[in-house]
Amino acid sequence: MPSVTFDAASRTYLLRTSTTSYVFGLDAEDTPVHLHWGPVLTQEQAASLPRPAAPRASSFDGVGPAEELGTEAGARFGTPSLQIAFPDGARGVDWRHLGHTIDEGHLTVRFRDAVQPFEVDLHYRVRGDVLERWIGLRSEVPVTILRCDSAAWSVPSLSGYRLSHATGGWSAEHQLRRTDLTVGETTLTSRRGVTSHHANPWLAVDGGDAGERHGEVWSCALAWSGSWRVTVTRTPSGSTGWTGGFGHEGLTWRLEPGEEWVTPVFAGVYAPDGFGGASRRWHDHVTQNVLPEPDELRPVVYNAWEAVGFDVAESNQKELAVLAARAGVELFVMDDAWFGGRTGDSAGLGDWWPNPDRFPNGLAPLIDEVHGLGMRFGLWVEPEMVNPDSDLYRAHPDWVLHMPGRPRTLLRNQLVLNFARPDVADWAHKWLHRLVGEHGVDFLKWDFNRAFTEAGQPGAADQDRLWIDHVRAVYSIMDRLRADHPHLRIEACAGGGGRTDLGILARTDQVWTSDNTDAHDRIAIQHGFSQIYPARVMAAWVTDSPNPLTRRVTPLSFRFHVAMAGALGLGGDLLKWTPAELAEAAALVGRYKEIRPVVQLGRQDRLEYGVQYTYGDQVVVLAWRGPVAHGTPLVPLRLAGVDPLGRYRDEDTGALHHGALLMAPGLLPDLPAGDYASTLIRLRALGPGSSD
Ligand code: GLA
Repeated sequence: MPSVTFDAASRTYLLRTSTTSYVFGLDAEDTPVHLHWGPVLTQEQAASLPRPAAPRASSFDGVGPAEELGTEAGARFGTPSLQIAFPDGARGVDWRHLGHTIDEGHLTVRFRDAVQPFEVDLHYRVRGDVLERWIGLRSEVPVTILRCDSAAWSVPSLSGYRLSHATGGWSAEHQLRRTDLTVGETTLTSRRGVTSHHANPWLAVDGGDAGERHGEVWSCALAWSGSWRVTVTRTPSGSTGWTGGFGHEGLTWRLEPGEEWVTPVFAGVYAPDGFGGASRRWHDHVTQNVLPEPDELRPVVYNAWEAVGFDVAESNQKELAVLAARAGVELFVMDDAWFGGRTGDSAGLGDWWPNPDRFPNGLAPLIDEVHGLGMRFGLWVEPEMVNPDSDLYRAHPDWVLHMPGRPRTLLRNQLVLNFARPDVADWAHKWLHRLVGEHGVDFLKWDFNRAFTEAGQPGAADQDRLWIDHVRAVYSIMDRLRADHPHLRIEACAGGGGRTDLGILARTDQVWTSDNTDAHDRIAIQHGFSQIYPARVMAAWVTDSPNPLTRRVTPLSFRFHVAMAGALGLGGDLLKWTPAELAEAAALVGRYKEIRPVVQLGRQDRLEYGVQYTYGDQVVVLAWRGPVAHGTPLVPLRLAGVDPLGRYRDEDTGALHHGALLMAPGLLPDLPAGDYASTLIRLRALGPGSSD
């Protein structure tokens, strides 16, 4: 059972999940120092943890004991988590403990600065196997915030350290990197105003000896969809930890007397059972504590973006809708270019009414058609953006992020609307509310196709506040739309997977994983994505072959088997598919619907060349193989999470398998010959006493 306790004698806080303990204490100077993050400890054991040596005897020693939140006060030389400049010119926060409250797994420890009337609350909340941390600030004097990370985390001394994280770019998101952690400081960051394709706000550290199923892993993820920074430090003396939060270096914020400043959550998980164990804890956390509708099965989507691009018309959408419905699609989404003068990427963004040439009678005829075909209807929107060639920009050129006398840098021919301005955010909320309400829109694909530049707001007292307030306004609009339209579901998108994080997932249902729909490339993207995000939020379309982006030719079944590992959609030009391909697609969509609860609600185990999902008595294995040289041995897939004493029947071939043998030596999938071979295996446990 999760619990939070305080031992007054040793001044030690102990937080326990079912499999983890986290311990910190107050040193003689009231500094909150880190003591333990790992296996479960009792209160007595926690109180006996060795305290760090008295700090800072010499300025040439190490960086001092690991603190729960490093400041700049006194002889501290590590990356500060909290940098505050006071009106008298002083810097740094010198901790004085004020007390704490414990409320159903939520611990708040209150401190104030030794000199200034400035308070810091350290928040800890145990949720399942995950510990959520954030901070709150209050001040009676105006201060400048130079940095305010949500938390600093420390791992035990290990003989080596390895860092896992994800990097990438447009159409190559979520590439998993696993490298020795260098002695020094490693910064993972986005300075783009959005989570970014280039780095995702999570990391894992292990001793270099963990694998998918064994070894200790410590992992953290930040719930924030704007700029962010995590700095991992490995000291020459051998200790390792990291500090992270919103904002990137150089941004400063004013905190006025009476204001309450709260950071986003930086969550952490300890897994004694490898990277797979860490991932499953994250998946459980996202489903149990983050997603608004975790138990709902995600519908099979059709989206015509790759089929028609900007050449949207009522007629082609209707024709595609008919074919999509026949293939078993449940949600038809009309992508870009249905509104204003948007016939390419250089005009119309901001003018959110149906394009009168393309939809002379509004959207109703198409929506009625889609509903008549038994599908739900969704629309692409990009509320935070504007093309200069738009009625909106002509009317409100001051609504965009800009700086006086500076150019307004165009990216994809568009500018960013400043949602930190209440009037701009209110405008966006109003038209979205009307659009969803008037048309009974079931689903929004909410896009964000360029980073911030010239991020200024002339006249605002606190210029850099917009980096935070913009994100919070997006969150608030999404939250209000969901509250007012309970049927509405939202997909997070930013030129593909550029806004994938625990913050956006708290108000969306799935993520557009990547604009790269090449099934071969998707295997790596999905592998990285799965490190912390669960299959049910990973939107994956089957598109055309050759793939429009990479020109790679792959069989339809391979494209399906890769996409079936997430929330399946179709995105190809169905008008060009042969009757045989359409029939095969319909059969595979049907097959997906059968395995959907297992994929979307089950436990995930990454396999050597595939992925396994287990849900109740059902097991699904999706296996795939790219081009291989002749003679390359096919190794059996060692399944996990099955009952070693149980027996399992292959639902397609009828073959019987012992659970123990599925785990070792494993299951040899029957992969067809040729490049891009793949298969789907469905197993079901035989009930006890079954005579089979
Ligand atoms: C982004 C999205 C695509 C598509 C286009 C439309 O790139 O990631 O899926 O919606 O915008 O312009």
